[in-house]
Parts: sequence; structure tokens; C-alpha cells
Amino acid sequence: MFARRIAVIGTGYVGLTTGACLASLGHHVVCADVDVAKVQRLRAGQVTILEPGLAELVQEGQAGGRLEFVVGASAAVGDAEVVFLCVPTPMGQGGAADLAAVESVIAEVRTMLPVGSIVVNKSTVPVGTAARVSGLLKRKDVPVVSNPEFLREGTAVHDFLNPDRIVVGCDIQDAAERVAALYARLGAPTVLTDAASAEMVKYAANCFLAMKLSYVNAVAELCERLGADVADVTEGMGYDRRIGQSFLQPGPGWGGSCLPKDTQALLQVAAAVGYDFSLLQATIDTNTHQRQLIVAKIREAAGGRLRGRRIGLLGLAFKAGTNDLRDSPALAVAELLRAEGAELTGYDPGIDRDVDGVRVVSDAYEAAKDADTVVVLTEWPEFRGLDWSRINELAAGSVVVDTRNHLDPDALRRHGLTWWGVGRGHLDLGQDLAAVI
Ligand code: UGA
Repeated sequence: MFARRIAVIGTGYVGLTTGACLASLGHHVVCADVDVAKVQRLRAGQVTILEPGLAELVQEGQAGGRLEFVVGASAAVGDAEVVFLCVPTPMGQGGAADLAAVESVIAEVRTMLPVGSIVVNKSTVPVGTAARVSGLLKRKDVPVVSNPEFLREGTAVHDFLNPDRIVVGCDIQDAAERVAALYARLGAPTVLTDAASAEMVKYAANCFLAMKLSYVNAVAELCERLGADVADVTEGMGYDRRIGQSFLQPGPGWGGSCLPKDTQALLQVAAAVGYDFSLLQATIDTNTHQRQLIVAKIREAAGGRLRGRRIGLLGLAFKAGTNDLRDSPALAVAELLRAEGAELTGYDPGIDRDVDGVRVVSDAYEAAKDADTVVVLTEWPEFRGLDWSRINELAAGSVVVDTRNHLDPDALRRHGLTWWGVGRGHLDLGQDLAAVI
């Protein structure tokens, strides 16, 4: 029989998506959270996470009787065949992942797990965690499996139901196969391996993506200084199938709840086993520097200084399609601007409250009003369709700094604005190239 009884512990991005999607595949899923109010909202079909398709899947699952919400892990595991751990693993001291939540769930449920059930780590956890959880469980009859998620915020439901691959790792092959079978209907390539390798896949993939982005941001900076156009350069690179077109978009640096945390964690793990992962350190340093380069560009656009300047920020979330502000490069840039004395007004379609030091307004025009410089920090599609002549009338200055190369420069120019992108040679140093080199 395909349908399984599944418990999902934790109803954050990963847990709620996992629970709702597994229910949509036909399994019976009980999701647990310690937050009573959240469980009540979910029971009423209310999803506060901005994630396309998720609320609909939650409601469908509940209506079909395949998805339930309960308070506390112990209420969920009683008759579960598979228990997914989807609790937060925040960055702890020194950059290593903090496993307190995982440990507390294990302590709570270890004696309640049915004989022969399986515990699955879905959260991103350090290499060796499956073994550590197994040690805490002290249940020889309950294997611990690593099954990392590869969901992107903003497309989590789509990514879950259309995965590039499923990775399942366990030192007991049969348990790995049973977990892989939960996803059989998706028809995705499946990698069955040991637990440590599955855990490593997740870090190696996220750190590679971070490295790719830092590389492209560095190439963009060089393009700018050399008068080349990074958009054409990345297009030319991306046709090489070994490189690929995706994750080549320069920006204000990478952020979010995953890449910053995972790069730090792998760096820590490497150091703990005596390996100096200088490539990864450089990836992180380049990202920090990228924010400073963006601030320098905004400073220049604002006339050489930021003190007392009004800056209108378009976009605050770490990327479009989410209301997540965790480790958002937009906020990091905002903080640097504020430290230099700029006055910040911001608009983001997903944010309706002030965030540290930024007065958040309800539309892009209000953010642009009286701004000495308008800055695009998040690539929300709606920013492309703004009325630029109205923005030109409202803003005090005429330069728009587009840190995502998201807008159509010609559209802005037609309305009397000056567009400054990233890596597209606005400084026009190309003219002096012969002298520079
Ligand atoms: C990332 C990975 O992409 C997922 O595969 C992984 O499952 C997830 O982390 C996780 O570990 O759970 P996510 O953090 O949602 O997903 O966001 P991404 O789409 O990877 O974007 C990360 C950052 O890179 C954002 O700040 C984004 O704006 C930036 N980015 C991305 C660019 O600057 N340029 C690009 O071309 C792509």
C-alpha cells in the first residue's frame, strides 16, 4: 500500500510544505507544533507564510481528511510509521547549527515511537546528526534517516512536487528505501546513500550555490570596472551546460534563512576536522564586500555622501515572492546606509510594518516621494511595471540604483531617470581601459 501514516514535527516553511505536499500525494499526515495559536490558525486553514499554493494545499488536505494539526510532538507520533523532524536549526555560537530543538523533540517522543517506525531529519543539520539523533533515541528498532529538503522559499510547493532529485541516506538500506518510496509518485531521480553523505549533499549544494553567486557578483564588479556588460557575460557563460544559466544573476549579495547559515556551518565543520576551507571563507567575504560595493554606488548616486540624504528602498525581503526578512541583503544594505546617516523609507509588497530603521510605507510611490535616490533591492516583478514618470515627479533626485538589474533601463531613461545597474558599466571606465591596463 502506498499511503503511509506520517507525523511532521514543526510547521515552519519546511514542515508545513512537507506536511501539505505529502498529504497531497495521498499520505495521512499529522503536523505538530508547540505554538498553540499557530496550530489553531492552521486548523482554521489560515497560513501566514507567503508561499504560493501552500494555503490551498493545506485546505485541500484538511477537507480530504488527510492533514491534521496538533499541539506538541507527542500528540502526533502515536501511530506514525514515519516521523519527519522539521524543527529550526538556527545558527548557534561560532556559526555551527544549534540542535536544541531537535534534541528536545527526541527527548519528548523517544519512548512513544511505534516499534519499527522511522525518524527522518528534513531540517538542514550538520553531518553526523543522524548518528547523534540515533544515539539520543536509544531505539535499535527505529532507524534515523537523512532526507534533506531542497526547497526554495517562494517556490517551495512547486519544488517539493517537482524535485530535481530526492536524496535519502541511512546506514540501514531498507529504511532509506521506505522513505524514498513516500515520493515514488514524483518520479524524480533518487540518490540512496548513507546518512552522512545525504547530510553532506545539502551543505555541498547550498555552499556551491553561494560560491556561484559570489563569483558572479565579483565578475559583475569587474565588468563594471572594465566597461563590460555582465548580462551578456553571464548569458555567454550560461550556455555552457556545465555552468548553466541559473544562479548567475548579480545582486546585493545572497541572503535568506539558508545560504548564510549553511556556509557558516560548513566552515565550522571543516575547521573542526582541521580543514581550512579558504574557498568557502572567500565566498562569504565576497558577499560581505558586495553589500559595501552597493552602498558605495548608492552614496555616489546620492551625490557623494549619505548623511541627511533620503533614500527610497524598493524591496526589503531577501528575494522576491517571500515576506522573509531573515538575513536579507536588503536590510544589511539598509543598515549600512543608516549607519552613514541616510533616512530610509521602504516599500515591499510582502511587508506591512516598519523594520529596523526603515519606515515602511504602503506603495512604491510613497517610498520614492522626496527621495534623493531610489534603490531597488528585491526583484519583485511589479517594480518593472511602475509608472516611472510619476516616480520622476515625486523623487527629489533622478538616479535609480537597480541592485538586481531588474528594470528596463530604457523605460527609465524615457521618463527622464538615470538607471544605474550592477556590472553594466555605468561608470564607463571602458573608455579609459587602455590607460587602466
Ligand atoms: C536555498 C536553495 O536555493 C534551496 O535549494 C535550498 O533548499 C534552501 O536554500 C534551503 O536550504 O532550504 P532559498 O534560501 O529559498 O533557497 O533562496 P534562493 O533562491 O537560493 O536565494 C538565496 C539568495 O540568493 C537570495 O538572497 C537571492 O536573492 C540570491 N540570488 C539567487 C541571487 O542574488 N542571484 C541569483 O541568480 C539567485
